[in-house]
Amino acid sequence: MSWDTVTLDVDDAGVATLTVDRPDKLNSLNVATLEALEEAIREAATRDARVLVLTGAGEKSFVAGADIGYMQDLSTPEAQAYAELGHRVADGLESFPAPVIAAINGYCFGGGCELALACDLRVASERAVLGQTEIDLGIVPGWGGTQRLSRLVDDETARRLVFFGERVDASDAYELGLVGELVAHNELEDDVAEMAAALAAKPKYALRTAKEALNMVHEEPQHAGLQYEKRAWSGLFGTHDQREGMAAFVDDREPEFE
Ligand code: COA
Repeated sequence: MSWDTVTLDVDDAGVATLTVDRPDKLNSLNVATLEALEEAIREAATRDARVLVLTGAGEKSFVAGADIGYMQDLSTPEAQAYAELGHRVADGLESFPAPVIAAINGYCFGGGCELALACDLRVASERAVLGQTEIDLGIVPGWGGTQRLSRLVDDETARRLVFFGERVDASDAYELGLVGELVAHNELEDDVAEMAAALAAKPKYALRTAKEALNMVHEEPQHAGLQYEKRAWSGLFGTHDQREGMAAFVDDREPEFE
């Protein structure tokens, strides 16, 4: 399925690949692209994707941020609508009912970095450069970056990245914990495909439950998260995948999940 600047492919194994396809503008996110992403994320969920991969078209860029040309003359109400839209896309990734992998194949700045932060896992090509660069445009991260960055890096590092707007190369990003894996540029696609296939083969309701519970760490007090975990854990008993996974272990064979 495709929109003007976004494509969505879902393979037979349930791996959905969402590509921002505006390479002449380094996949920066204008309103139409954000709206298409919002729809495409919903569509991937409707099609029961077991894993979602987010990446950028072309050789240079994942997503070079929000569209600076568009933002230049926005009024506050217009900026607010743009922020709401960016947040809806980031929230859609964060609450997607399956793991989401950012395959960071190049520039990953501003709003692009914020979308990557909303994913569950980040794999970067050695060509990637990341940064919350907004400060040098006279603004701050507005699609979740001020809140989600310090989940991955410590508070002081988050402050440094946001205050200085520094652009960090892939190996520094890996050292900082901003990305979880670093691979050679020409291996990114295969590496992410392998990771996605492995996740797609896992029991999907258990994975969804794991994601929901892990997301709660940042959203709820620990007491509520622990209560949720107890209920969610118990709720998985009686599912096909729980019965099958445990029977397979007891019978010493490979499980066949739903
Ligand atoms: N918004 C709008 N257009 C953008 C863009 C953005 N965030 N990032 C890149 N582009 C456009 C450029 O304007 C240019 O368009 P043009 O060919 O019509 O002039 C095209 O993409 C290519 O960019 P260019 O700057 O010529 O490529 P480069 O390889 O020299 O530099 C970057 C690449 C990413 C380093 C540079 O474009 C950049 O710094 N972009 C802004 C990054 C940023 O701060 N993003 C956060 C926004 S909140």
